[in-house]
Amino acid sequence: MNYNNKLYTFTYYLSNFSMHFWDILHGTDFSYVDKSVETNTNCPYYATPWASIHNLRQYIKNYLDDGKNHKVIDLGCGKGYMLYTFSKHSFDKVSGIEYSRHLKQIAIRNLKKLHMPNLPDIYKGDASLFREYHRYDVFYLYNPFDEGTLRNVIKRIMDTLDNHPRALYLIYCNPVYEDVLMEYGWKEVSHFYYKTKVYIYEK
Ligand SMILES: C[S@@+](CC[C@H](N)C(=O)[O-])C[C@H]1O[C@@H](n2cnc3c(N)ncnc32)[C@H](O)[C@@H]1O
Repeated sequence: MNYNNKLYTFTYYLSNFSMHFWDILHGTDFSYVDKSVETNTNCPYYATPWASIHNLRQYIKNYLDDGKNHKVIDLGCGKGYMLYTFSKHSFDKVSGIEYSRHLKQIAIRNLKKLHMPNLPDIYKGDASLFREYHRYDVFYLYNPFDEGTLRNVIKRIMDTLDNHPRALYLIYCNPVYEDVLMEYGWKEVSHFYYKTKVYIYEK
């Protein structure tokens, strides 16, 4: 493991420790890592590190007009913490898709405990087969997929442009396969501490 990866792991566990206390205070379960979940991509559940969230929220405020006139979906939404985060902004729509039924149920339970006025839609399924991408323009990923699945997801998102032309934004936390985005013509426009990048695709 190189120095950067060690620092990332250290930051991750520090941030997850804080999230664990937050969970205790709110009666939720966002912080526990779940490696038992069966997905077709071998990418288990880890919550987005808190270390990334502050800057991500600043980006939404400053460059996405706090979410007004934008619709966001978390691809592989796990236990739903990012759905809660996005719901604090002014997005027209907040949704998630999750492969695991078990995690989807935990997400619904978590979000209900937080007494949110509008519960986000959570779809259960494989993101590479999802048919509703045309409804969204902001896509969030915390490294949920292997390269093949990411490629299929990106292709499926871009196929929606023919009938629904619009600018697309993709926020990729811990971007392991960013080459796939470059290959399809996405441009990196911002990056935050720590290992979170924003890409835009404009026709
Ligand atoms: C690293 S976790 C990220 C969780 C959440 N986005 C967050 O930031 O807190 C990745 C999630 O992707 C889900 N996942 C993996 N493959 C998937 C697929 N093909 N379709 C939908 N979800 C998938 C996993 O079950 C896991 O919950």
